[in-house]
Amino acid sequence: MLRLAFLLILFVTMPQQERVRSYGTGNEGVVSRSGPDYNGTVQSDGPNYTADGQMKMPERYREWIFLTSGLDMSYDHAAAMVGHSSFGNVFVNPSAYKAFEKTGTWPDKTILVLEFRGAEGASSINKQGKTESQELTGVEVHVKDAKLDGGWGFFEFDGDAPAKVVKRPSSCYQCHENHAAVDTTFVQFYPTLLGLAKAKGALSPAYLKEIGSAGTTK
Ligand code: HEC
Repeated sequence: MLRLAFLLILFVTMPQQERVRSYGTGNEGVVSRSGPDYNGTVQSDGPNYTADGQMKMPERYREWIFLTSGLDMSYDHAAAMVGHSSFGNVFVNPSAYKAFEKTGTWPDKTILVLEFRGAEGASSINKQGKTESQELTGVEVHVKDAKLDGGWGFFEFDGDAPAKVVKRPSSCYQCHENHAAVDTTFVQFYPTLLGLAKAKGALSPAYLKEIGSAGTTK
């Protein structure tokens, strides 16, 4: 009993590990931040903002639901630099994923994180093919929040500092609204979700038109 109390005191008084490097590997928050609080209540996985409305870097997103990895996708994301091979990994907060499984679309407070990592060649025992770099080269976030202009907002993070919402109009909103399969998100590239959205009749008119016309021109 005494030992338990001692451990508890030790735990509560332990300094919280701070993230010092910009970006780092994306795993820094895993040990020290958020998660269940001291009453054992699991904290919400929705967006957090600063007092002046900037979004804080989502913590522990690497423990969220993995949706896809895109390799060298070509459109105009800033982090996908010409001549540099890179992976884009997409994660979503678990509460939103669960809601999507039921409805085929996203609830309020959905957060989708797109992180970029370099695609590296031969190293260790790998002789061929590509592996992902430890360093992050960019983090972009797409948030559904009724508080945001248009109900959805993009945020481009520069390191771990809070990010301002990308203002409308911008090419981000334009491309996502005109080409994404579900509610301005690119579910056509998220293999575990496309079938669900189709079954629930949640595919966007823009996407249906796009695949419809692609079908007739073949
Ligand atoms: C020309 C089209 C295009 C533009 C412009 C664009 N995106 Fe995307 N975006 C995509 C595609 C395609 C994907 C799917 C990526 C994948 O499958 O890995 C995507 C996925 C994303 C995701 C993952 C969640 C989702 O919505 O599917 C985020 C976050 C994101 N983009 C942020 C941005 C930001 C920020 C900008 C503006 C700086 C932007 N995008 C501009 C095409 C675009």
